[in-house]
Amino acid sequence: MDGNGRWAQQRGLPRIEGHRRGVETVRRVIDSSREFGVRMLTLYAFSAENWRRPQDEVGALMGLLELYLKRELQTFVKNRIRLRTIGRTQELPAGARRQLQHTIEATQGFEDYTLTLALNYGSRGEVVDAARAYAAALAAGEVAPDDCSWESFSRHLYTAGLPDPDLVIRTSGETRLSNFLLLQAAYAEFVFTPVLWPDFGKDDLAQALAEYARRERRYGKTSEQCRATEHAQQH
Ligand code: FPP
Repeated sequence: MDGNGRWAQQRGLPRIEGHRRGVETVRRVIDSSREFGVRMLTLYAFSAENWRRPQDEVGALMGLLELYLKRELQTFVKNRIRLRTIGRTQELPAGARRQLQHTIEATQGFEDYTLTLALNYGSRGEVVDAARAYAAALAAGEVAPDDCSWESFSRHLYTAGLPDPDLVIRTSGETRLSNFLLLQAAYAEFVFTPVLWPDFGKDDLAQALAEYARRERRYGKTSEQCRATEHAQQH
């Protein structure tokens, strides 16, 4: 969700105004993606590196998160949206943590749509946390050294139970991954758009999905093999 700060600066507004507008985009993108049949959405809302921002901006972002969760709870319940998080959320301020816990518990039974918020998230930190948990599982004899595999390791990532992302969209013209789902996005398609996050709308999402639909995902195979499998599945 990149470009909130620039959106505000272009209008001579404080950066936090960009983040406020960014929250409106969050609402819009959830609605549009549901309409388009998307079942899972992960938003990179606060990276482990974002603590380096000015304190008042960090505080304002945490406040916005708390307010957003309070306001949306009814909508989540009405639309059967399950909330979950990835990241070291135990390090977030108490107010945000409480509201997250409350929303997660109130929506845990829903299966129509999963909204995952990446909060205090960083891929490298996630790998370190997973490696620590995996080592403990090995030491406890829950996993035999000969049985080490991506499958058993990935159960210790924050994303355990979530499928890998099919499509990663980054707004605002930046073409970096910035420590986001580095392992999970191994086979993801990427769409980079110059649109700033506060301006990102239903049409932009439709365009990104159309672009995704045009891509051929080969997972190491040849085009011919993929077409043959597709043909076999259709007949
Ligand atoms: C990136 O724009 C945006 C963020 C670091 C924060 C996104 C957070 C929110 C919109 C609020 C809380 C989250 C939810 C899910 C309600 P930037 O500030 O890096 O923009 P810039 O690169 O133009 O400066």
